[in-house]
Amino acid sequence: MSRARDSDTADEAVRSTCDDASICKRFAVSVGYWKDPYIQYFVRQAKERKAPEINRGYYARVQGVHQLLCEFLKKTECKCQIINLGAGLDTTFWRLKDENLLPKKYFEVDFPAIVSRKLYNIKSKPPLSKPIMETHNGDSLLIDAHSLDSLRYSIIGADLRQLKDMEEKLKKFGMDPQLPTLLVAECVLVYMNPDQSANLLRWAANTFSTAMFINYEQVNMADRFGQIMVENLQRRHCNLAGVEACQSLQSQMDRLLSNGWETAEAWDMIRVYSNLPQIDIARIEKLEFLDEKELLEQLLLHYCISWATKDSSDLGLAEIMF
Ligand SMILES: C[S@@+](CC[C@H](N)C(=O)[O-])C[C@H]1O[C@@H](n2cnc3c(N)ncnc32)[C@H](O)[C@@H]1O
Repeated sequence: MSRARDSDTADEAVRSTCDDASICKRFAVSVGYWKDPYIQYFVRQAKERKAPEINRGYYARVQGVHQLLCEFLKKTECKCQIINLGAGLDTTFWRLKDENLLPKKYFEVDFPAIVSRKLYNIKSKPPLSKPIMETHNGDSLLIDAHSLDSLRYSIIGADLRQLKDMEEKLKKFGMDPQLPTLLVAECVLVYMNPDQSANLLRWAANTFSTAMFINYEQVNMADRFGQIMVENLQRRHCNLAGVEACQSLQSQMDRLLSNGWETAEAWDMIRVYSNLPQIDIARIEKLEFLDEKELLEQLLLHYCISWATKDSSDLGLAEIMF
């Protein structure tokens, strides 16, 4: 196979991870782990049940990222923008609108092929398009095969490894480098090689002077369990090109700090899980019987949330914590 075709196949496998994530989220939502009335419009219901430990893992991931995101919105009083990198079929924009917590503008970036699928759903399903129209200013929407721009929501087809092109597209749709900015990468950086993710992190740190980066992905990948995770994905032709940065919580923080960010924290998901509101944990632990406690612990130990801040406006971003 030619090298170009090799990399097309690799990118295709990476793109397919967005279905996996959303199908798992939809399943967990259908069991009652959290509420998301929008995910049903993006992916079908899973044919088979997902294991309880997978559902609890997704619960911790979604709640953990959402909690930090809400802290950022609180600190900035929503006078900010959010850029969701590798957003896939994520529904945060719609959920924030329902919670009355929309930032000035919410951007999403993913490969053009994913964006056109997402746009197809948005265009054909009123529960998705109506909230975008309701927050728009009445002018006609700018929409083509690989992008949509409205007053509060934009989606852009771009490759996160082609920073110039991505930046141009973001600017065209009104990205404002002066505005406090939250960048979110949920299970995304690990699919890029270490130079590419470092470049993305450095670009973000250099572009925005008041900003936070939230990253959810694998950690502790050098041990046996981590190796098995890598092998399982490889079997599906999905290469974790960025696994090197996922060796430890320290390597996660080092990458952020060595690419222009001023503060960095990294928590494994065991710690995140045990810091989520106890009342919610008690509720979700009653939803399904969990046989494999050890497996859940192993899973939670091999994912983390790391976050970094830069704060030239002294908003107190460094204080953001679980
Ligand atoms: C595991 S999915 C996660 C999707 C979403 N963040 C979530 O958590 O539900 C990874 C996403 O990152 C996107 N992605 C990975 N590498 C990318 C790149 N170089 N450029 C654009 N998108 C990328 C994939 O297309 C996919 O939608």
